[in-house]
Amino acid sequence: MPETLTITDNRTGKQYELSIQDGTIRAMDLRQIRTGPQDFGLMTYDPAYMNTANCRSAITYIDGDKGVLLYRGYPIEQLAEQSDYLETAYLILFGELPTAAQLQTWTREITLHTMLHENIKKLMEGFQYDAHPMAIFLSTVGAMSGFYPDAKQIFDKASRLRQMHRLIAKVPSIAAWAFRHSIGRPYVYPDNDLSFAGNFLNMLFKMTELKYQANPVLVRALDVLFILHADHEQNCSTSTMRNIGSSHVDPYSALAGAAAALYGPLHGGANEAVLRMLHEIGSVAKVPEFIKKVKSGEGNNRLMGFGHRVYKSYDPRAKVIKRIADLVFTVTGKNPLLEIALELERIALQDEYFIARKLYPNVDFYSGLIYQAMGFPVEMFPVLFAIPRTAGWIAQWEEMLLDPEQKIARPRQIYTGPASREYVPREKRA
Ligand code: ACO
Repeated sequence: MPETLTITDNRTGKQYELSIQDGTIRAMDLRQIRTGPQDFGLMTYDPAYMNTANCRSAITYIDGDKGVLLYRGYPIEQLAEQSDYLETAYLILFGELPTAAQLQTWTREITLHTMLHENIKKLMEGFQYDAHPMAIFLSTVGAMSGFYPDAKQIFDKASRLRQMHRLIAKVPSIAAWAFRHSIGRPYVYPDNDLSFAGNFLNMLFKMTELKYQANPVLVRALDVLFILHADHEQNCSTSTMRNIGSSHVDPYSALAGAAAALYGPLHGGANEAVLRMLHEIGSVAKVPEFIKKVKSGEGNNRLMGFGHRVYKSYDPRAKVIKRIADLVFTVTGKNPLLEIALELERIALQDEYFIARKLYPNVDFYSGLIYQAMGFPVEMFPVLFAIPRTAGWIAQWEEMLLDPEQKIARPRQIYTGPASREYVPREKRA
């Protein structure tokens, strides 16, 4: 079977043969299809990149129909069961699981970079008391560009590695301080005796005790949530990271943009919407009535935390999260909204409307319940997402930089405005 596509241009009667590689044709191959020398050539129109591959990537693989998610070939379920976040971040960034010695060096480097410059602290203190922690987070990450001018050496491998250490290590500190700022408590400095997740909980929740030791079940739960959120191939924030990075700006500036994309309710805010929905439903008895409303389209209600652009079966991350939720609730006590969530899922999974549309719980269906039970306000949810996704963003950024096929991102447009016209002096305008 020839791996080619034959196109007949009915405007000219000409035929073209384009090669097909990896199930794709190259959009630039269409440019030769022209009606005459003045014609720019054929383009594709693909708002929201619904069917356009923008890169080759060896980092994350998703099979949405089968519910498969692999980081560098390793199934997410196995990583969630056996790995920890720092090891998974190493895997995502460097392509292989670390040896014991590599992991030790990596962990030491990350631990050495957890402190923030005192002037960063001052910058964070300048925010209003009610500033959204995600606004503080993304501004502070952007400001780091000014603190680490060596980050501009993006084609220097050692410099890139230094920024990776800094970013992975410092985002929990920034996130925790953004939280402490929003509740008016003093910032807590990192404790390097603790694990990555344990130290994060320390910086969030330490009060007057000399040493803060979080419950190990909660530390592990948070670490697994970090593993699950570390990368998810070319989503809105990741392609933002690649797009900004393609201008060869430093990684802090690019990551601030990626975090801004994640801030939006269509991306990082869905678990908050799940909680709002569960509150609105209010009780298990009201679940059937709510499902009826969703199906009829009344009030534009959707079953939040259900459905996914890519997954057309159970999101593999949601399965892991459901197990984690049970563990967390043994420590924190059950989130009263859990019963409503379980009943919603039970009914939806048997209902023809949801079955026919392949709507299953996604990663956000249970994560908000866990975060809430652990004491996080909803404003912190996107920040909790940004901490582990930093690993994915940097890995994708570096892959883009080193890909000889990549250039500055610059899409085309179909111009719909007026044709060229003469400027009209102000006094002559109607
Ligand atoms: N509840 C009810 N019906 C739904 C839902 C839902 N959650 N999701 C999709 N549908 C229906 C649509 O109404 C549509 O029905 P129709 O064919 O009768 O018109 C059909 O299923 C297909 O829906 P689309 O909107 O075309 O699917 P798309 O792939 O564009 O949307 C999305 C995916 C945005 C995630 C959607 O399922 C949704 O809004 N879900 C709820 C929000 C949510 O949980 N988002 C988190 C995603 S995970 C993440 O971002 C980390």
